[in-house]
Amino acid sequence: MTRQELCQKAVEMLSRAYVPYSHFPVGAALECSDGTVFTGCNVENAAYGPSNCAERTAVFKAVSEGYRSFRRIAITADSDAFCPPCGVCRQVLQEFAPDLEVILVNRRGETKRLTLRELLPYSFGSSNLEEK
Ligand code: THU
Repeated sequence: MTRQELCQKAVEMLSRAYVPYSHFPVGAALECSDGTVFTGCNVENAAYGPSNCAERTAVFKAVSEGYRSFRRIAITADSDAFCPPCGVCRQVLQEFAPDLEVILVNRRGETKRLTLRELLPYSFGSSNLEEK
């Protein structure tokens, strides 16, 4: 799948977002190492705390289907500004894919490419636990 196609899959998820509180839809498309793509949207909750971001929806869908190796994620919101993943999502992404490429797409279709290592430097991971 091309980068543009992956971005398009993220954009298509904006319409699935359940956002009655923030009115801020986010879409994500996570590409596995074998090319399989899992999509996600944010799913909010009246109690606010249980809300789930689009990126984590995609990761949890993938992992629950047996996929743990990822190469890229496209993330979009209906805004001129890019929508970078929140801190919790960065941590969840780095659990499975510390070398992930992160592609941000804005509503104009402009993209910004980053690495997860840039977004979450000096992170805590499984190797920290092994040094115990
Ligand atoms: N949100 C995401 O889904 N991903 C992000 O990376 C940032 C924030 C969601 C959470 C909430 O539903 C809404 O955007 C406003 O914060």
